[in-house]
Amino acid sequence: MNSNYLHIGGISALDLIDKYGTPLFVYDIERVRENARSFVHTFQKLEVPFQVAYASKAFSSIAMLQVAKQEGLSLDVVSEGEIYTAIEADFPREKIHLHGNNKSEAELRMAIEQDIGCIVVDNFYEIALLKDLLYEYDKEVNVLLRLTPGIEAHTHDYILTGQEDSKFGFDINSDQADQALQQLLDDDRFKVLGVHCHIGSQIFETSGFIMAIRKLFEALGRWNRTFDYEASVINLGGGFGIKYTDEDEPLPLNEYVVALVESVQQHATDKNLKLPEIWIEPGRSIVGDAGTTLYTIGSIKEVPNVRKYASVDGGMTDNIRPALYQAKYDAVVANKLDQERTELVSIAGKCCESGDMLIWDLKVPEIANGDLLAVYSTGAYGYAMSNNYNRFPKAAVVFVENGKDQLVVKREHYKDVLRYDLSYE
Ligand code: LLP
Repeated sequence: MNSNYLHIGGISALDLIDKYGTPLFVYDIERVRENARSFVHTFQKLEVPFQVAYASKAFSSIAMLQVAKQEGLSLDVVSEGEIYTAIEADFPREKIHLHGNNKSEAELRMAIEQDIGCIVVDNFYEIALLKDLLYEYDKEVNVLLRLTPGIEAHTHDYILTGQEDSKFGFDINSDQADQALQQLLDDDRFKVLGVHCHIGSQIFETSGFIMAIRKLFEALGRWNRTFDYEASVINLGGGFGIKYTDEDEPLPLNEYVVALVESVQQHATDKNLKLPEIWIEPGRSIVGDAGTTLYTIGSIKEVPNVRKYASVDGGMTDNIRPALYQAKYDAVVANKLDQERTELVSIAGKCCESGDMLIWDLKVPEIANGDLLAVYSTGAYGYAMSNNYNRFPKAAVVFVENGKDQLVVKREHYKDVLRYDLSYE
């Protein structure tokens, strides 16, 4: 193994780009499995009933869902496209959970027809729509009630979903949540498994989750008295943070689980309620640090006395997070690992937009065109949010495991980008 070259899952990044080209998403599948297992094994050790549902919005593809299935995970989906991917991956229907703040009739029909495991009910419109459909199909469905507990997680504003002023869920602090539960309990076709909340994403502390659990149990205690209702599931969403750069200090994944379980056990005992099954929905923490994006460096430009720019053959089309959330990433020159990092270079994408910058002021060895840049921790919301701006085709995705590489999403061709274009007569 040449130590001057980056290896991913035992395979040289140079060999990967020779075979598949750039930009290229490479997933180390052993890492995906390790991440999944740190959640699953911790729950198992604590001997509590649980489900770990992979939030497939972070990265959904048939191959990825096959891995999630092998690891015994459940699945969080939010659209017909994500349900369809799950079906194509032959994911067990009963382990699929459907989310969404504006589920369409088509999405709900698909969920009912496919007998998916549970629908996370988000609003009154959805309850009415779902009720009509259940009568039409003469079926029952498991539901969770999505609640907004009014917790502000310490993270970027755009990815806050659990605060009171949110488009998601029923407000726990007004009588909305009680009314929603009443409506669901009034109809036998709804099997109300329990409650759900998701307080945000890329969270480094357990305190927000613990506050949310307290809020959920206030409602559960009240509902036990007023409706004689006892939840058999409490779903605490995802949001467990990962390390993108040295500035990030997430907890080890097992520590989130331990804190959540202890808090749920405590509240259940205090309120004299049975211990519900604890469900979580990690996305980023399962795939984020398992993904690396490989690019080829093209043009290099020096603005005298200001900065040096090096442009790669991708950018905001394969990773929109820096432009959208000012997200930071770490990267290395994959063919110069042994060389001293002597210069600062800012990594630009190739889109026709000044905001298309991937990394500002990255420390690198002396850089040249043709060098290979590897950006770390791009496995979550990278390919998933990729787009065809400037009519760039989407990158390819490769999995590596046990010293073998396999293409799992083909690279698009510009003809694919145009495939639905029609000429105007
Ligand atoms: N469950 C629910 C209901 C969610 O809304 C989300 C993420 C998750 C689970 C998974 O969260 P995770 O464990 O991945 O943090 N595009 C943004 C992230 C948006 C997250 C939306 N919901 C980003 O690139 O940072």
